[in-house]
Amino acid sequence: MHSSNYWIGHFMTNALQKRVNWDKAPNITDDEISTILPSLQAWQLGETSNGKHLIAASERYAGKIGDPKYVDAVKLFIKEEQKHGNNLGCYLDSIGKSRIKQNWGDTLFRKVRYFNTSMELWTLAVIIVESTAQIFYQALKDATGCELLKEICTDILIDEAYHITFQTERLAIIFSNKSTFSKAWRRVFYRYFFYGVSALVWFAHRKLFKAGGNTFDTYIKKMRCKREKTIKIITDNNVSLNFA
Ligand SMILES: [Fe+2]
Ligand SMILES: [Fe+2]
Repeated sequence: MHSSNYWIGHFMTNALQKRVNWDKAPNITDDEISTILPSLQAWQLGETSNGKHLIAASERYAGKIGDPKYVDAVKLFIKEEQKHGNNLGCYLDSIGKSRIKQNWGDTLFRKVRYFNTSMELWTLAVIIVESTAQIFYQALKDATGCELLKEICTDILIDEAYHITFQTERLAIIFSNKSTFSKAWRRVFYRYFFYGVSALVWFAHRKLFKAGGNTFDTYIKKMRCKREKTIKIITDNNVSLNFA
């Protein structure tokens, strides 16, 4: 397990990496645009959240466990998500398509976020969405021949892998402090929550997932692998946090 200081260092170093060459002009076909546009617009909006409720939850949680630096790490994490939203937004601008302000999936997720004050639920939800994001951005990359869009996706995919580790370590810490009974029902709840959200994301973006070479079966298989990896880390009993 890494300390909050480690994660602050990671996010600050990563922010200096420039992996997208914006001098490249987009070269995307009209056919590709019609397949990917609704999903691209929806994820652009989703990545743009100001993170107000997540920061509030992390402040309460960090106060409770006595790790104020965790809030700074969360703020840098949110900044990285906003970079994704900004990059996707710049791409939409460059191909002359609008950035949307509302979408049913985003509205639903924002409503849930509003009522969600638990760090555990937040962390779990973020892990699931990040896991679908890994398949989503790979599919987006595979569904286009546009070099610029591919570079934007690669940059996001590199960031997202660390996001999953950052959140999974947190959930492992939270999980390790629960009683045996509490752990038992949580395993069941985590599983249903994971597959419920996964199915919802497939349903909303199936056109794009399919264009990237996925079927519902291969998608769920990939999600199962990600879930098993996450659960293994969370339920590993040797959790210790180094505050250095
Ligand atoms: Fe992201
Ligand atoms: Fe992320």
